[in-house]
Amino acid sequence: MRPVRKAVFPVAGLGTRFLPATKAMPKEMLPVVDKPLIQYAVEEAVAAGITDLIFVTGRNKRAIEDHFDSAPELEAELARKSKDLLLSLVQDILPSNVSCIYIRQSAPLGLGHAVLTAAPIVGDEPFAVLLADDLIDADRPVIGQLIDAALTHQGSILGVQEVLRSETDRYGIVATDPVGPRTERVRHIVEKPNPDVAPSTLAVVGRYVLDARIFAHLRQTQAGAGGEIQLTDGIASLLKEKPVFAHRYEGIRYDCGNKEGMFRATVALAMKYHNLHP
Ligand code: UTP
Repeated sequence: MRPVRKAVFPVAGLGTRFLPATKAMPKEMLPVVDKPLIQYAVEEAVAAGITDLIFVTGRNKRAIEDHFDSAPELEAELARKSKDLLLSLVQDILPSNVSCIYIRQSAPLGLGHAVLTAAPIVGDEPFAVLLADDLIDADRPVIGQLIDAALTHQGSILGVQEVLRSETDRYGIVATDPVGPRTERVRHIVEKPNPDVAPSTLAVVGRYVLDARIFAHLRQTQAGAGGEIQLTDGIASLLKEKPVFAHRYEGIRYDCGNKEGMFRATVALAMKYHNLHP
């Protein structure tokens, strides 16, 4: 398998669960303590050796482009006031060997459609997908854990975790056969099944390493759950042609796509990294 150098960040969703905060601002720019969600995901990808960051954007997403661009006036002002620490915080968001590429999703037709939008930039290489609203606190970047598993098992990898049976209708759920201590071969995947029909309680979270053949399958994928073109349905089709594995990553995930997860992440990271325990 070829090395994984490109990561896709779908950031074109409407973020309706955070209205009115997300009326004019992208959900991915909501901060957890002092960094926007998207920066946590980007730092994870960069730490795993990704060099090409591909953002699939939509309306109201200018703030994301500005965040990863230089800010000459702010930098000049911080330099003039000798605020060196703050200056390095804004200048060092991305290392110099990393590039950002932005492509616009025509309309928020679903996660599968967002990933397909990146096809012309990804080409025929294996690539990573990170959903910034899943913030995962881990010693080793989770997308790096998945890339290692992709190299070991020579296939696409889905980051998975066990969830409560009552929650299966919030996730893509996989049926698997074990192949290694943390990795299982995916036999079947279904989007948001009701708890009584879910094939397991192993849920796909927002981290993927995918074979570029996924694009051919997504082109054939019709709207599914919620009337959206689902990445899960594209993967269900891909696994008839290519091996797909589920990998139980090491790390603690906070679902920052909803208010409770966002609040938990804020409290946990504030205590762990910012000495705000009291
Ligand atoms: P969500 O399912 O969380 O949807 O998308 P959302 O629109 O962002 O939020 P809610 O449910 O309305 O509150 C998961 C990820 O997929 C992206 C989102 O930006 C988010 O990162 N996405 C979703 C797209 O890029 N395009 C889409 O058409 C749908």
